[in-house]
Amino acid sequence: MSKDRSEVLMEYLLTRGFVWPSFEIYRSMVEVGGFYDYGPLGVEVKRNIVEKWRRIFVYPYQDIIFEIETPIIMPEIVFQASGHLEHFTDYIVECMKCGRKYRADHLVEEELKKRGINIRTEGLSERDIEKLIIEHEIKCPQCGGELSKVYKFNLLFRTTIGPYSNNVGYIRPETAQGMFVTFPRIFDLAGRKLPFGVAQIGRVGRNEISPRQGLIRLREFSQMEIELFFDPKDPRCPFLDDVRDVKIRLTTEDEVKKAVKEGRDPTPMELTPREIVDRKIVPNEWMAFYMALAMTFMNELGIPVDHQYFLAKLPEERAHYAACAFDQMVLSERFGWIEVSGLAYRTDYDLSRHEKFSGRELRAERRLDRPVEIEVVRVYPNPQKIREVFRDKAREVMKLIAGLREEDARRLARGEKIRIGEYEITPELVFLKVERKKITKEKFVPHVVEPSFGIDRIVYVTLEHAFTLVDSDKILLRLPPDIAPIKVAVLPLVRREPLTSIGASIARELARRGLKVLYDDDGSIGSRYSRCDELGVPIAVTVDDRTVEDGTVTLRDRDTRIQIRAKISDIYSIVRSVIEEKRDLVNVGRELGLEVIERT
Ligand code: ATP
Ligand code: GLY
Repeated sequence: MSKDRSEVLMEYLLTRGFVWPSFEIYRSMVEVGGFYDYGPLGVEVKRNIVEKWRRIFVYPYQDIIFEIETPIIMPEIVFQASGHLEHFTDYIVECMKCGRKYRADHLVEEELKKRGINIRTEGLSERDIEKLIIEHEIKCPQCGGELSKVYKFNLLFRTTIGPYSNNVGYIRPETAQGMFVTFPRIFDLAGRKLPFGVAQIGRVGRNEISPRQGLIRLREFSQMEIELFFDPKDPRCPFLDDVRDVKIRLTTEDEVKKAVKEGRDPTPMELTPREIVDRKIVPNEWMAFYMALAMTFMNELGIPVDHQYFLAKLPEERAHYAACAFDQMVLSERFGWIEVSGLAYRTDYDLSRHEKFSGRELRAERRLDRPVEIEVVRVYPNPQKIREVFRDKAREVMKLIAGLREEDARRLARGEKIRIGEYEITPELVFLKVERKKITKEKFVPHVVEPSFGIDRIVYVTLEHAFTLVDSDKILLRLPPDIAPIKVAVLPLVRREPLTSIGASIARELARRGLKVLYDDDGSIGSRYSRCDELGVPIAVTVDDRTVEDGTVTLRDRDTRIQIRAKISDIYSIVRSVIEEKRDLVNVGRELGLEVIERT
């Protein structure tokens, strides 16, 4: 075969209806890279991956993890507070001759790689990147033109909310902010107890400069994220023991620094979650816990352990909110090592910033060892003054003053003015009363650990790992049964009555019970088995003449081609135990004392 495996895979994903580039009919007219549609099979795979994530990250911890859904478009103030307006940028460089624009750090890495120079550009400043361009005389790869200065480009998609041009909004670049801004409500629902977490699955938008790698770099994609809130004075994870045997492959910050100095790739080591905590590679148990779950998740998608590791991010490489971060890397045949998830210790960064910008208290309470006496400042609005200054906004301002944070109340008591959103509050607008009070609890802003998964990259690496060429040209999609888009095929041995009507009625019944079923009576049975293998259908049910006599069918295992013979009425429960309980079809058959047919 002339094409390599990756090319066959790409063609396969397009022609079989897994994914394809969006807006194809207009592609020659406008630049719309970085958008992909999911076809019928892709939708199923994606849905199954999302469901597996829930089963690993959410359902087992449902007492403390709550899934929510929040809007994709959010007002500007959210991203002023979150720091995205200031920090969510990439470097861009422009060709002065043809006008093409490139992501500067990627361009430098790629061009130098072609010359045999391996360099990491993550964390470099625009001046450093510019220096590399000049030093290595890097030109426009398309036309050879001179490149411009390097500058920052903000990746947020901007829009306006409603008909007012000054009411600016943005498409969220992460689902996370929706979880932070709704903290008071969900914390109340969680009984105001820590630790607790919020999960969200949804679409996000990033105006990537030059998306070229299919599902790996999109301008609109989906994430699955958890914000786990905990007391920084009690960073224990009660579930760490449940994952004690998971071996985590990772590179530490020290190893990454050494590798950068020596110009080589960092070497991962294998540790248990407990060892990672004890060696202080991570600052709290939650990080180690989520590493273990993330590795388990990838394993269950068919990614072997040696095709994944956690890469420590150096301080200059981390997002603006992270005090410690690891990228979960997976080896792709086509793209090399790619980041499928990011694990970050976001500290109290986001909640503190949203407190400051919203004026709302986003805090939990902890019991003190012994009561202490403190000074409390009570703030009451002065309605007359507030009406004079704020007129029709007076009610809103009074409400804000009623819910003022202690910190702001103290500033007013010191004679300072404070700002809540668009309102400036001066001490003259309030009455202040200072009291001494004994307290047994203190308030604090919870800290956050966040595992963040990009679904589309995970869909790609899962499909790539499952994609197998047998005898060099026959496709076998060895997806785990619970991820396979079609769970069961029903195939009459030949297109003849009553085999076809029995087959059709089995297919209908299985579909009615919630399984994704393929009914196929077209062509030879061999070619239909091949079709099923190509689509990754784990079990093929064949209706033959014996079915008419004794009501039994054969169930063929996709990977071994071994068949078992079972009663029609048992098909559903057998299929369910293969999919739900991850049982091996032939073992299930043997356990039930069924006939096993080992021919291919
Ligand atoms: P990269 O360094 O590759 O740009 P990132 O560090 O910006 O990724 P995060 O901000 O940590 O990525 O986002 C969390 C996850 O979202 C990533 O691990 C990845 O799986 C996914 N992701 C990020 N950007 C994209 C994109 N442009 N297209 C598809 N998935 C993405
Ligand atoms: N929530 C982490 C990220 O998307 O970067």
